[in-house]
Amino acid sequence: MRIAVVGPGGLGCLLASLFFEAGEKVFLVDYRPERVALFKAKGVHLKSLTGDHRIIPVPWVLAEETGPCHLTIMTVKAHQTEAAARALPRLMAAGGLALTLQNGLANLELMAQEVGFERLLAGVAFLGVTRRDEGRIIHAGPGPIYIGAPPGSQVSPAEISGVVDLFSRAGLECQAHPHIQVLLWEKLLVNVGINPLTALLRVPNGALAKLPEAWELAVAAAAEAQAVARAAGIEVTGDPQTRLRQVCTATAPNHSSMLQDVLAGRPTEIEALNAQVVNRGKTLGVPTPVNSLLTQLVRSLARSAGLRVV
Ligand code: PAF
Repeated sequence: MRIAVVGPGGLGCLLASLFFEAGEKVFLVDYRPERVALFKAKGVHLKSLTGDHRIIPVPWVLAEETGPCHLTIMTVKAHQTEAAARALPRLMAAGGLALTLQNGLANLELMAQEVGFERLLAGVAFLGVTRRDEGRIIHAGPGPIYIGAPPGSQVSPAEISGVVDLFSRAGLECQAHPHIQVLLWEKLLVNVGINPLTALLRVPNGALAKLPEAWELAVAAAAEAQAVARAAGIEVTGDPQTRLRQVCTATAPNHSSMLQDVLAGRPTEIEALNAQVVNRGKTLGVPTPVNSLLTQLVRSLARSAGLRVV
């Protein structure tokens, strides 16, 4: 299968490396020519789950170099989706599939603006990957990947099984999921609670549950997101506090992706996470004061970078 993985961040580098090692014809697609030139020669440096180090010579290319692909996987940060989606008509073979494995809402809509919903798949990845540096990643924790057809998609169950098999052959835990939209919201609930607070306080995920005031805010943000999901007709069940506690415990030493972005001075995914809850809440008449506050604080964190006294 000819595969394009769009976005050489932690997850993108990991998937492209594991598919390459499994013998697939895979391309890691980047938009920066100088980075392509550098990593074409260097490959991806992977520290695997078992702790061994491998250099994997995965083809690192620009979008115009792949030729038509049977499967295109989006792994760029949510704020880059709009620009990256413009390459989809060129990357996708006739009848090809495109799968988003990104955090946050609105990625599917942005992809559909370019190619329609019919050939789109959505997925949620619970595995832990840390990007140490450009092209250097650590596969930090195992975890399942769920893939399914979102509303509007016409991808058949047999085609979804084909994609799941591809991930399994590459050594990843992967399953088809019949209600992927619910799972996207369940992951969002976790992200809107953990990501902004760990980034603002600069603490690992496990510390959040030990800070009573911050924990209260995290639970309130997740509960607001659940109320918005339900108002949108998406049955996200279960207690948000329990869900948050499970993830904070399972990923205790992890630096959340938003904390990693803040520490590296990169833009965060706040617009695709808490800001989406606020916007959708407004449309549906659901109050979201905590998500609004967290959105404003994380936006201010970025804007205040050059103004700080220390
Ligand atoms: O974005 C993240 O960092 C992850 O989705 C999660 C689950 C919060 C773990 O760090």
